[in-house]
Amino acid sequence: LRGKYIEAVAKAADEAALEEVRLAALGKKGEISALMATLGKMDPEARKAAGAQLNVLKDEIDVALRARKAGLADAALDARLKSEWLDVTLPGRPRRMGSIHPVSQVMDELTAIFADMGFSVAEGPQVESDWYNFDALNIPPEHPARQEHDTFFMHRAKGDNRPPHVLRTHTSPVQIRAMLAQGAPIRVIAPGRVYRMDMDQTHTPMFHQVEGMAIDRDISMANLKWVLEEFCRAFFEVDKVELRFRASHFPFTEPSAEVDIRYSNVGGQLKIGEGDKWMEILGSGMMHPKVLAAGGIDPDKWQGFAFGMGIDRIAMLKYGIPDLRAFFDADLRWLRHYGFSP
Ligand code: PHE
Repeated sequence: LRGKYIEAVAKAADEAALEEVRLAALGKKGEISALMATLGKMDPEARKAAGAQLNVLKDEIDVALRARKAGLADAALDARLKSEWLDVTLPGRPRRMGSIHPVSQVMDELTAIFADMGFSVAEGPQVESDWYNFDALNIPPEHPARQEHDTFFMHRAKGDNRPPHVLRTHTSPVQIRAMLAQGAPIRVIAPGRVYRMDMDQTHTPMFHQVEGMAIDRDISMANLKWVLEEFCRAFFEVDKVELRFRASHFPFTEPSAEVDIRYSNVGGQLKIGEGDKWMEILGSGMMHPKVLAAGGIDPDKWQGFAFGMGIDRIAMLKYGIPDLRAFFDADLRWLRHYGFSP
């Protein structure tokens, strides 16, 4: 009996098999237990001898079972350690991460800079009514400026004779929306997308502007100049910037000025504040009384300046990118080359 069970224990390949052996030998209906039950019918002398023998056998089988069980557990652990082995000294596998598009990055930067100067952000829709985009800005229906804007028109249903909505041609309609919503005094910027039918190295049919507007009791061109210079110093991270104010005309400002920034281009390396080149970056001026009135603000009590800056333009200058169209190609190699995507 001993030989039979010791061998069975040794042959058990896993814990389940081992348990079967235990039940067969030591379980309630096991062979050893059955022998134990016969002790009661023996006479005392024989019972003593047989009982002692059976107890020894029971212990031996029990010890063998435990030893085998521990051995199986060790083997299982060894196998797991082998298969789940991990070399924590291996270098990590780098993953490509997404990144913020240069235009979005520039929008975040300029929003932060203007916020420091007390400007909050205002918004308006990209599909705009012609009243906000033109009329309220002192551009009546037959005004030649409407042609200059190369406007995209939205279609109206047949028989609907109201003037069509447009894709906003500039961020200036947000001036009107912000005035009507907030009144005066007010200091806001409005960054966003604008649309014109135009396409070459420096023009894309969709581009970005940031509108700026400050209305108070005694706002002047001097305030406008300071705000723009302060902005450029912070944005281009230079001590010295040079802005050139050129007299110009916009229906919604009087007087009006277009503003250029001085830069140099040495072998494709652009630098702000030096050199003999000028890039036009914005249109600006003192808000026209009719525009203030359209925004519900009394032009006899309040004055304001406004400007509209080309975001893509200043992004090109800051990051030395010669072709505007590349901004909108979504080419990851290009983004990586300019350091925008890791
Ligand atoms: N809206 C003008 C443009 O898109 C820029 C501008 C804004 C000019 C505000 C004056 C004041 O060209």
